[in-house]
This record gives sequence, structure tokens and C-alpha cells, in this order.
Amino acid sequence: MRIQEIEFRLKDGRSAVLRCAGPEDVEGTLHYLRVSAGETEFILRYPEECDKYTPEGELAFFERFNDSPTDVMLLCLVDGVVAGNCHIAFNSTIKTRHRASVAIALMSEYWNLGIGTKMFEVMIRLAEERPDVTQMELEFVEGNHRARHLYEKMGFRITGVKPNAFRLKDGTMLNEYSMIREIKR
Ligand SMILES: CC(C)(COP(=O)(O)OP(=O)(O)OC[C@H]1O[C@@H](n2cnc3c(N)ncnc32)[C@H](O)[C@@H]1OP(=O)(O)O)[C@@H](O)C(=O)NCCC(=O)NCCS
Repeated sequence: MRIQEIEFRLKDGRSAVLRCAGPEDVEGTLHYLRVSAGETEFILRYPEECDKYTPEGELAFFERFNDSPTDVMLLCLVDGVVAGNCHIAFNSTIKTRHRASVAIALMSEYWNLGIGTKMFEVMIRLAEERPDVTQMELEFVEGNHRARHLYEKMGFRITGVKPNAFRLKDGTMLNEYSMIREIKR
């Protein structure tokens, strides 16, 4: 689903934009995916695992969201640079369509500027606009204190833990926590 572009102010005073992705964002998104994969252990991929991403694949990924009747993917652009993205996906089966899952990641240069907070405000509004939806869900990896702080600030609470969900290259095992945010009706 496409939504209207949203302009907002970062904590450092710069202007930023949240908007749906188009063909002009393919290169910037590939750059963001590779850079962010090398900057944190808290996302799924290592940088070399981004080699499989192609311009055609990214475009198809954008279109899948833009053409979806429900799901939304937003890029954040700062000074014309793709700083990161977020998405919200709504389940469709009768038994699970009250649930929405969300994900977010930014390049480190853009952490702590309020982008995550703005992205969550928008994704919560999108969930609230769908009458069936009663809960938003996400996961974070042990040690990701910034993410946990953001999610708790936005009303999520921990509901479970998956032991040893991540195994890093050096053998370190990390637990993954599930969180839920209720949408009051
Ligand atoms: C986690 C992430 C999405 C947060 O986005 P962001 O734009 O940096 O978030 P914001 O700037 O809106 O908010 C960050 C909050 O964390 C706080 N924070 C920063 N470092 C922190 C730390 N080490 N411990 C606890 N809180 C911290 C900030 O003070 C801010 O809180 P406030 O708004 O109450 O002042 C972003 O940092 C990121 O992309 N990280 C790498 C990828 C990742 O971890 N993705 C999430 C996977 S679950």
C-alpha cells in the first residue's frame, strides 16, 4: 500500500522524509542494506549475505509492498540519502488477521536522531486504522538496548524469549525476545 510522504524534523534540526520506495531508490537501498549489515550484530544478515540482492530484486520488493492492499514499507531519506527503512505486514488468515508484524533498521550515521520514533508513530497509526488489528509484534536480539528502549517507549512489552536464536561468526549465542503492543479498540 502506498501512503503519502511525511516530512519531519530530526533531533539535529535537519529535515527528513518518510515515503514509499520507487525505482530511484534501488541503489540507495542496496547501499543501506550492505552498510547496515556490517554495523550491527542485531540484524539478520552479514554484509556478504547482501551480495544476493539485485536491483531487480529490490524493485520487486518495493512493488510487493506498494501493490499490497495492506502492507507498507517506508524509506527514510535524509539529504537525499536512504538512511534506512521500516515495514509493517498484516496477517491475512482469519485466525491471525488481528496481528501485524513490524521491522526497522537504519545505518548507524542516522541512529539516535528520532527516525525510529517517527517510523513507529506512523506504523502504529497504520495498525490503528485497520479495524481487525489488535496487536503489533516484533523481535529484538539480546543486547540491543537502543531498540528495546525505543520499543518499550512506543508501548511494546516483552512476551517471550527464543534461546540462542542468533549464532555469531565467533560462536557467541544470542537470545531473541518477542514483544507485543496491544491496539486498544
Ligand atoms: C534500533 C533503531 C531502529 C532505533 O532507531 P533510532 O532512530 O536510532 O531511534 P530513536 O532515535 O527514535 O530513539 C532511540 C532511543 O534510544 C535511546 N538510546 C540510545 N542508545 C541507547 C542505549 N544504549 N540504551 C538505551 N537506550 C538508548 C535514545 O536515547 C532514544 O530514546 P529517547 O527517544 O527516549 O531519547 C536503530 O538504532 C537501528 O537501526 N539500529 C540497528 C538495526 C537494529 O537494531 N534494528 C532493530 C532490530 S530489532
